[in-house]
Amino acid sequence: MEKQRGNFSGRLGFIMAAAGSAVGLGNIWRFPYLAAQYGGGIFLLVYLVLAVTFGFALMTAEISIGRKTGLSAVEAFRKLDKKWGFVGYLSALVPVIILPYYSVIGGWVTKYFWVFASGEGIAAASSDYFGGFVSQIGQPIGWFLAFIGITAVIVWFGVEKGVERVSKILMPILVILSMFIAAYALTMDGAMDGLKYYIIPNFSHFSVKTVLAAMGQLFYSMSLAMGIMITYGSYMRKDNSIESSVRHIEIFDTGIAFLAGLMIIPSIFAVGDPEQLLEKGASLMFEVLPQLFLAMPAGQFVGAAFFIMVFFAALTSSISLMETVVSIFMDKFHWNRKLSCIAVFAIIILLGIPSSLGNGVWSGIKIIGMDFLSFFDFISNSVIMPIVALLTCIFVGYVLKTSAIEHEVEVSGHSFKARGLFRIVIKYFAPICIVLILITSVLDAFGIFKL
Ligand code: PFF
Repeated sequence: MEKQRGNFSGRLGFIMAAAGSAVGLGNIWRFPYLAAQYGGGIFLLVYLVLAVTFGFALMTAEISIGRKTGLSAVEAFRKLDKKWGFVGYLSALVPVIILPYYSVIGGWVTKYFWVFASGEGIAAASSDYFGGFVSQIGQPIGWFLAFIGITAVIVWFGVEKGVERVSKILMPILVILSMFIAAYALTMDGAMDGLKYYIIPNFSHFSVKTVLAAMGQLFYSMSLAMGIMITYGSYMRKDNSIESSVRHIEIFDTGIAFLAGLMIIPSIFAVGDPEQLLEKGASLMFEVLPQLFLAMPAGQFVGAAFFIMVFFAALTSSISLMETVVSIFMDKFHWNRKLSCIAVFAIIILLGIPSSLGNGVWSGIKIIGMDFLSFFDFISNSVIMPIVALLTCIFVGYVLKTSAIEHEVEVSGHSFKARGLFRIVIKYFAPICIVLILITSVLDAFGIFKL
């Protein structure tokens, strides 16, 4: 079976491809605003603990399932056990929900690149600029359509390789630029308070919500609980080490998220009013960074360079999301690539437009108290993904048995160093935590129980 699928050329190829999918808006846009909102250091600590336990175990399980079966998520679960095929379908739903609003944010990034590249960056630094932009109708929808249009053209012609090549060059530059921006931010007055807020845990900020937010972010950022890593695993060669690949992807992904936080959170304290900015949510990056760029020498240029790289990070992720959804349509309905592309494109537009309008003319429409974008984000990250993760743990721990995964990890003579940790997390720690968190968060969302 594996013979028919393309293989990654080697371990580095696999790590780069999986990291390309993992690193995206989740790291640069989503992680910093959650860390800001959920108490800084305590969020960071919870995230790191979850990354080396949950993240490690789940990614190992998903990649192993993929490599063992040589199939994508929907087929892989079905092949291993007929009754569990529904987990594959459930996981396939996640990219369908994420991609539309991901592209709305991708549109904002594209717009900001344009603003800086055309020399208007100073305007973007004013405090009401972002709100003025997203509350319009035509502008944000236009940029959303541009972003998803570019993604769709690439998927349609199957020319992802070209984009990957460009981003392989740009990603290391993004890392270096982010370090530079973070270092600059830290020299500003007040930034040290921000640094302390970001890295020193304050246990009085801890709540169940912190854990839920960190867990949802972990899944989102590492492309877990949505079938993606199963598909990636199905392309992985048998002689590559799963365990060390997972470690590398984790370090890479978490490192970039940490760096993004280091750039944005101290800046909050340096350029504005922390009380107000820490609670900003989805708009945080777009409100804070332009002010920082404005204060910097050659800030217009740095801003343009920064946003073009974030654009590429977002584009590689949106391509892999769209590719996933298109291939689900192709397999499921036996449509060809072009027809599937058109159908997926239509669905993204249909679901993306409400997410865009929810910041303006439709801001009065709320679903369980949330605008459209927040609702789609909540339902995928805080509901469906934890359920998929829970079912995956139960399936691996009690139906398939952890030994099946352990064998796959040990193929070609590799030793499984963290076997004990893997077993405990999959069988006990993860399922119990997820159940507790899910119940409390759903009760909270419906206002039955206040956290
Ligand atoms: N992990 C990506 C991010 O952090 O931005 C989001 C993502 C990309 C999820 C691609 C799934 C995927 F297939």
